[in-house]
Amino acid sequence: MSKGKPAILTGMQPSGELHVGNFLGALKNFVELQNSGTYDCYFFVADLHALTGDSKSAGLADKTRGVVMDYVAAGLDPDKSTIFVQSQVTGHTELAWIFNTLTPMGELERMTQFKDKAGRQQKNINVGLFDYPVLQASDILLYHPKLIPVGQDQVQHVELTRSIARWFNKKYGEYFTEPQVLLTNVPKVMSLIDPTKKMSKSLGSAHYIGINEEPAMILKKLKKAVSDSGDGQSAGGTNLLLLLEEFAHPAAVEYFFKQKKDKKIKFGELKEQLADAMGVYFEEFREKRKALSQDKKYIDQVVRGGAARAQKVAGKTMEEVRERVGLL
Ligand code: ADP
Ligand code: TRP
Repeated sequence: MSKGKPAILTGMQPSGELHVGNFLGALKNFVELQNSGTYDCYFFVADLHALTGDSKSAGLADKTRGVVMDYVAAGLDPDKSTIFVQSQVTGHTELAWIFNTLTPMGELERMTQFKDKAGRQQKNINVGLFDYPVLQASDILLYHPKLIPVGQDQVQHVELTRSIARWFNKKYGEYFTEPQVLLTNVPKVMSLIDPTKKMSKSLGSAHYIGINEEPAMILKKLKKAVSDSGDGQSAGGTNLLLLLEEFAHPAAVEYFFKQKKDKKIKFGELKEQLADAMGVYFEEFREKRKALSQDKKYIDQVVRGGAARAQKVAGKTMEEVRERVGLL
């Protein structure tokens, strides 16, 4: 919020509960960036993007509130960051339209997330799904951010955003600055039961560990996770070791990496220790999340305040854009 600091901006879709992939690839980093005090931070819920998906629209508002609760429970602070809901700020869709007129179809046809999702929802390949990255570019450029903290899978969309900024500048004069992606040290956590694929909500519940899940459930899911004969070299083994490094006590990490050296990892034991460690790690989150879920009013107040702040910035950008483009 403080002027003069470089801005960072990122968003998440309200498509269900957050998992440890979202946490390690994105949310954990958001909190650290906010607390560094270095940036003017914008965190939003991409509810308009969620409309392009296959899930029923019933419950969207609650899912949107749910992401805000996740943000706040994880440590995002409405006094330090602008936390808002995409659809409550005008400008996102308006700028997207202008960007539509600058973006070649061929660029969108190349997007791997589009190809992926179109494959998964063949009966619902809507124009919004195709145009999704243009709306994302608009989400980003409206706020002139320097950095976009996201997981690996979003890199291509940020690249396209950079191109759109260039196309705009070329046609209408230098205006947008090209933002850069900021990856975490864990940009890609893999699925528990199909570790060749990225951990994702859309694969189904057995593939991920939700950060709000109870310890007993964490253990149950980890027990079914794919591992290997003990050398820790397979995709599943590597993924479990990565989670161990992120969540377990350094002594436990050392213990299992010693086993790895001898190619004798006892994955049964590792999974139990990992489940314990994760249960403890997210205990505070679970408690805060539970309290927030009973305080809908507070959440609505957070997003109202966030929308007002975001609207000021977005409104100014739109005024400047309209003038440059020649809209009366
Ligand atoms: P999902 O694929 O589960 O629907 P989203 O697309 O909503 O997740 O992603 C929200 C954020 O979390 C994005 O910044 C994304 O890059 C990051 N993310 C998602 N899945 C992973 C993963 N498996 N590993 C690391 N980061 C991830
Ligand atoms: N596409 C992102 C995802 O699936 C969500 C998103 C929408 C986003 N707009 C954004 C992320 C702008 C960063 C910046 O995770």
